[in-house]
Amino acid sequence: MSYLTGLRCSLCQTPFPAEALYVCDQCLGPLEVTYDRDAVRRAVSREGISSRPPNLWRYREFLPIDGEPRTGLTSGFTPLIRADRLAAELGMRELYVKDDSVNHPTLSYKDRVVPVAATRACELGFGVFGCASTGNLANSVAAHAARLGLDCYVFIPRTLEPGKILGSAVSGPHVVAIDGNYDDVNRLCTQVGERYGWAFANINLRAYYAEGAKTYGFEIVEQLGWRFPRHVVCPVAGGTLLPRIGRGFHDLLDAGLMDGEPPRIHAAQAAGCAPVIHALDEGLDYPEPVRPDTIATSIAIGNPADGFHVLRTVRESGGSGAAATDAEIVDAIGLLARTEGIFTEPAGGTTLAVTRKLVEQGVIPRDESTVVCITGNGYKTADVVASSLAAPTALGRSLAEFEAFMAERQQDHQPVSG
Ligand SMILES: Cc1ncc(COP(=O)(O)O)c(C=O)c1O
Ligand SMILES: [Zn+2]
Repeated sequence: MSYLTGLRCSLCQTPFPAEALYVCDQCLGPLEVTYDRDAVRRAVSREGISSRPPNLWRYREFLPIDGEPRTGLTSGFTPLIRADRLAAELGMRELYVKDDSVNHPTLSYKDRVVPVAATRACELGFGVFGCASTGNLANSVAAHAARLGLDCYVFIPRTLEPGKILGSAVSGPHVVAIDGNYDDVNRLCTQVGERYGWAFANINLRAYYAEGAKTYGFEIVEQLGWRFPRHVVCPVAGGTLLPRIGRGFHDLLDAGLMDGEPPRIHAAQAAGCAPVIHALDEGLDYPEPVRPDTIATSIAIGNPADGFHVLRTVRESGGSGAAATDAEIVDAIGLLARTEGIFTEPAGGTTLAVTRKLVEQGVIPRDESTVVCITGNGYKTADVVASSLAAPTALGRSLAEFEAFMAERQQDHQPVSG
């Protein structure tokens, strides 16, 4: 049973068939998916959802495919962790980490959007699947294409971290490294998609791809016991995730699965690439493009495709935004690892650093429930923190040497006798 009815321009509302389309041909506005909302409402229940396997497809009535999912059967339904030690550091009462650093199979939130785009690419008959990426998306597209046996082309800026490039190359796609930043890569891919008739997850399949990000919001609510938190802090690059978390909350309200007030959603960006934060500060409807300069390469998108939607979602939810410097990002990566044992990449460091700022500014009251969106894994970008970490203690192999070392540590840890 499919609930997908078509596409619609999110600006001028012109309807389109559910095909691979990039933008509205009337006004160049972004396209969004439409559903038979009444049928969805009749079909879904909390019990039905909770009885399904723990992957993103447990919310399938809200996702834009016609038939059965083709991939992503181990993706999504990542842990929501009550982070009490981190909360104590920040002086907060009820803090959670939604941990997509362990999303399968490629360790970022992209593993919940790509399965939707890949399944739709198969349904629409494409043989070639690709993307324009800051790294994580390419990893995910390459992995899911491999699983589906699709020919795969991923386009990335040439300057990406080795860990991110390797994470794509291992699945055997054509990795095309462009001499330019993400915005240059994206422009090229738009032309390639049109010229060659290929499916690009985040370009001509963007409307379907983006819907997968709603599952991040669905999971937060379900994992809190069907409860809304008061605040969600979310990183922003191209602007797919943040508005879809908000849309996910509204889908649950529309379908009668939730009532009450949805959370305030706050945007986090790196200071070296913060077009959305500038637009929030200056009251603009559209972000003004910037040239990125930050260690947070996965969120270094100077001209966010969904910037308008991010700004609208933040404002309508009563949220806010802030930017974190590279030093604050590195510091926050360490803080999360030291308190909760979660190793995130700079995108996650950005989100935590911004959460800390918003708490200090009183924008997020210390006693209100808050979810921090951790969207990527630190093992892909280990170099970012390497120089800030203590070197290992190097010793020989005798107990005497270890005892001498311990004696130097001012008798903190006495050996157990006997
Ligand atoms: C780890 C990580 N977090 C967050 C984002 C932000 O994504 P969006 O483009 O949805 O704003 C990205 C985008 O590439 C990412 O790789
Ligand atoms: Zn339009």
